[in-house]
Amino acid sequence: MLTLHLPCARGTEMCVDKELNALGATEVRRGAGVVRCAGSWDTLARANVFSRCASKVLVELAVFEGVATEADLVDALAGVPFEERLDDKGTFAIEAHLIDCAWTNAHYAAQRTKDAVLDRLRAQGKGRPSVDRARPSLRFVLHWHKSTVTLSLDSTGEPLHQRGYRRGVEGHAPMKETLAASLLAVGHADVARPFLDPCCGTGTLAIEQAWRALERAPGRDRRFGFERWSKRPPELDRALAQARTEARERERRELPAPIRMSDWHRDAVAAATTCIEQAGLGAHLRCERQDAREAVAQAGEGAQVVSNLPFGERLGGDANKRLQLEGFYRTLGERLRALPGARVLLFSAHPRARELLALDEAARTKRDWALRSGALPARLFRWDLP
Ligand SMILES: C[S@@+](CC[C@H](N)C(=O)[O-])C[C@H]1O[C@@H](n2cnc3c(N)ncnc32)[C@H](O)[C@@H]1O
Repeated sequence: MLTLHLPCARGTEMCVDKELNALGATEVRRGAGVVRCAGSWDTLARANVFSRCASKVLVELAVFEGVATEADLVDALAGVPFEERLDDKGTFAIEAHLIDCAWTNAHYAAQRTKDAVLDRLRAQGKGRPSVDRARPSLRFVLHWHKSTVTLSLDSTGEPLHQRGYRRGVEGHAPMKETLAASLLAVGHADVARPFLDPCCGTGTLAIEQAWRALERAPGRDRRFGFERWSKRPPELDRALAQARTEARERERRELPAPIRMSDWHRDAVAAATTCIEQAGLGAHLRCERQDAREAVAQAGEGAQVVSNLPFGERLGGDANKRLQLEGFYRTLGERLRALPGARVLLFSAHPRARELLALDEAARTKRDWALRSGALPARLFRWDLP
């Protein structure tokens, strides 16, 4: 049995927890920005192919308690059988994360770990693999929290949020694909209900909603880090092939409800159009150029309006532009209030978003979700309007 660690954005752990339970993992436990579980190679392959919300799937190799000094770390690592994973034909890299522990220099911790790997291989009479930080055959992850060090192997490679559809596209404040999928999951965006993102930017929310609705597995076609492990168990290749077949068999051909998306800025519309094509959704989605206030006014009764609102990344700056942005939120709120039966799911880093939108407080879910938009604190709000 393997112990898997799935890092994710803080505040979205419940989404990954739910996904892992659905994939048949056991002993699922939430931490801060990570969900751990027990599972097999099959669970590992399936989590990589099907998870929409996790950023990586790490396989735990060892946990050391009571690590306080460099000597403790080196001693602990000397006992790890790295030769079972790595040979001189492969390359490797170390990623180190230090939280609240005796050291602060992650770069140095990574270097000491790299030396420990090479010392161990030399002591075992093995050849010397090279280091490749960009695209190694094996990436070890060292996570040092207080006096506990966890060493794991990254099975994913390029993080799972890099679905591939945003390749070559520049957005203004685009959200990570995994965060978009998590917002849709925590906010219970309904795939059977008409959907509108009136400030779609590169289109991440609408594309993720379409993939959910079509049951398109995000990792269906991508390559994973574990495919470069020279010493991987044969059942892992079988599990990946099976997961890919299952993903294709599950997929629907038609959207159960229309998904609309628009943005006022021409470059955003161009970016979203490219992303739609690259996501294989050209037959299902189209991005229009429209002001959000107009798009919402035309959304129709019972619609579901889901968006990551501008928070000043374009309009903000000076006092006039701040007022303009506040006016935008107020008018958008008015238009939303005129949509009976709408489900409204809004994510914003604007500190006064809820107050400016002024939607019926009685229709707001009891809790909202504190998350981050890049480096900024942001909240997801949901209203089910009467
Ligand atoms: C935070 S970004 C959305 C990013 C998007 N979630 C993504 O992943 O790319 C906000 C978007 O609102 C758009 N916007 C700003 N004012 C608008 C308006 N009046 N009508 C429609 N879109 C507007 C901006 O062009 C920007 O693309």
